[in-house]
Amino acid sequence: MNNERDYYKATRRAVAAVNLPSPLKDRLDAIVRSVARSMNSGASLILLDSSGSKAVHSSSRALPQFYLHKGLLDVDKSLCEVLSGQTVTISDVANDSRIQHPELAAKAGIVSILGVPVMSGERAVGSIRVYARERCEFSAQDIAFVTTMANLAAIALNSDPSCQKTAVKQKNPLPPEASLLRRARSVDFAHPSEEDFARILDFYNIEWVYEPRSFPLRWDGDSVTEMFTPDFYLPGLDLYIELTTLRQSLVTHKNRKLRRLKELYPEVKITLLYKNDYDRLLAKYGCGPLAQTRAHGISRVLYSAVQIDDRVRALAGQISKDYANRRPLMVGVQRGFLCFMADLIRQITIPVDIDFMAISYYTGGSDSAVRITKDIDLSVVGRHVIMVEDIVDTGLTLTFLVDWLRERNPRSLKVCALLDKRKRRLVPFEADYVGFTIDDGFVVGYGLDFDEKSRFLPDICTIKNHN
Ligand code: IMP
Repeated sequence: MNNERDYYKATRRAVAAVNLPSPLKDRLDAIVRSVARSMNSGASLILLDSSGSKAVHSSSRALPQFYLHKGLLDVDKSLCEVLSGQTVTISDVANDSRIQHPELAAKAGIVSILGVPVMSGERAVGSIRVYARERCEFSAQDIAFVTTMANLAAIALNSDPSCQKTAVKQKNPLPPEASLLRRARSVDFAHPSEEDFARILDFYNIEWVYEPRSFPLRWDGDSVTEMFTPDFYLPGLDLYIELTTLRQSLVTHKNRKLRRLKELYPEVKITLLYKNDYDRLLAKYGCGPLAQTRAHGISRVLYSAVQIDDRVRALAGQISKDYANRRPLMVGVQRGFLCFMADLIRQITIPVDIDFMAISYYTGGSDSAVRITKDIDLSVVGRHVIMVEDIVDTGLTLTFLVDWLRERNPRSLKVCALLDKRKRRLVPFEADYVGFTIDDGFVVGYGLDFDEKSRFLPDICTIKNHN
């Protein structure tokens, strides 16, 4: 497609860009730009998600939005040889079964494709693809150039601090984890609230992709007349999330679209987050417009000390039965668990060990990831572990903690939560033992606080004026 001299110049430019102290996504963008420009084609860097089964367009050039919004690529359906380390050339996209979406490729005017793996050590962590608009037999020189660019992308990825951390921990390079994918992608958010939301997901290390797929909703003959593009996709949970920070009239329109989407694509899981829910989510972390709302005292007792005592006894009875002849390790998550766990272990009739841990919460500040601020002291390896939490709300904290504990190889792991606000779940999470399922108002007492206040109350109470 080009001569050796031009490829040399393009390589020199890309190497200089990768050597700059700029964010990873800018350096990867420069590589993809160089490939697209030198080969006069569309180009894209595709990276594997942390499960290794889906691939995400991380940077792209000269490709139409509808092609990029076709959804995540299934590794086993889309040029799978590339992700097992081989270079693939397809001269006629229309007649090749290795393409996952041939009809969209044809619509985008793509005729030939070259795919080259991005190798990190022995493993492919992604690929660079070139999309030619004219039929093309890629030459050895073309392939050598794109391979050099793929190697350069691997150098950029491996030199990123989040990848180095993983490599040291695991003793060998891994496919990019959530934080690396995030740094690798250039995302133009349509709305600042989406960027805030992405930061919360990043904080809990929940992998996300912004607007990866557009769902056709209505057609006029062959042409699509209405589409719906959810804001986020969380590959680890196979869940789409749509934020509606809009006026009510537009929300009604969006709801209609959502109903249609559910009819046409019943297998798609999607959660809608309304403006008020979203503002309350931010307020929980001390950010957003509701953060300054102050509570004015206790509104009413939701569960009295006597009711709590009854329920704790029942839970303790169940746990004692389920763990008969075993010695579980009960791990409390500081600090709301305190009264609950103290009462629980005194009602349990089998021997238990106890430990505690604490984590940092999202504050919208400089901490970009959740940290364990107090680790457990006992080993969990081979133990039957029961995590004890005060309350499950969005599910973000426990999803993170359960993953974190599972990596430490307990024999079994269950979660016991005093309260469950099921309706407020953002990510699916099921606790194994639940004290009470409650509606979504804010509660205090029996160890739970609002702004560090009211933990000492013996009852669980709702508070006034809390949105
Ligand atoms: P999640 O990550 O949204 O599930 O948050 C769980 C954490 O949020 C809990 O451990 C509590 O610290 C806090 N939280 C959520 N709702 C309440 C509430 O109503 N009262 C007190 N703390 C709450």
